Amino acid sequence: MGFVPTMGALHDGHLALCSAAAEQCDEVVVSIFVNPLQFGPNEDLATYPRDLVGDIKKLQTIPKVTTVFSPPVGEIYRNGSVCEVTIGKLNDQLKEGRDRPGHFDGVATVVSKLFNIVEPQKAFFGQKDGAQCVVLKQVIADLCYNTEMCIVQTVREPDGLAMSSRNQYLSASDRANAITLYKAITAVKEAYNIKGERDASTLFDMGSAILESNKEVNVQYLDICNLETAREVLRGDVMGEGQFMVSVAAKVGQTRLIDNRLMGGESWN
Ligand code: PAJ
Repeated sequence: MGFVPTMGALHDGHLALCSAAAEQCDEVVVSIFVNPLQFGPNEDLATYPRDLVGDIKKLQTIPKVTTVFSPPVGEIYRNGSVCEVTIGKLNDQLKEGRDRPGHFDGVATVVSKLFNIVEPQKAFFGQKDGAQCVVLKQVIADLCYNTEMCIVQTVREPDGLAMSSRNQYLSASDRANAITLYKAITAVKEAYNIKGERDASTLFDMGSAILESNKEVNVQYLDICNLETAREVLRGDVMGEGQFMVSVAAKVGQTRLIDNRLMGGESWN
């Protein structure tokens, strides 16, 4: 059985995970649950897009999706429930963890609960949320889940913008500005992969210059993570060979967007 956990408002990125699951499994379970525990107090829990009827219609187009699990909040977080999963020091180690305190503990907790309910052999996650993949690999290993993690490449709009449920929030001008994120991380990736640049500060400067050239993009971070160690690459580092992820978080208008690209190898598993 393959499992695809989601928060709904499904787009082609989510459907790519379902198709990958359908290719590799006999049966696919999709969960749709907007998890309150992973939203910070000033984040968009109340306004997060919800469209269960539309989501189910989309899932009906994918063979082998036999079950859509969309529990009410009270079923996952029962009255009086106190136990939660924490990812410990990974919260500080990952840039996205430092930017969103409590977020990954919330993700780890809900994914653990969902794994215990669904008991899948394989679970499918998108590379789009790169730090989430790092975190959940660790959760699966540390909590001894008998579930194989499968990471699916990011699905993009024709101009490169990573698909996201939150893209619905973008105005026409925000949408045009959002492409700057993709341009910046692609330039860094190409400098590493094609030009052979290994000096971290040169790579950071290159990406930052592109981000800063667009005044409508409010950058929160540009980060390079070593995927083998899950540690940040620092400005003074000379990067060796290996697999790295360059990631960016930025506000465009009122919307916080994230994106990443892998360097030193396309597939991540
Ligand atoms: P959500 O944002 O709905 O995403 C569900 C899954 O779809 C995640 O694994 C995410 O990485 C993947 N995804 C999103 N956009 C994608 C794209 N453009 N291409 C490929 N995959 C994409 O991530 C969550 O929900 C939650 O944190 C969850 C894991 C469900 C726990 O609540």
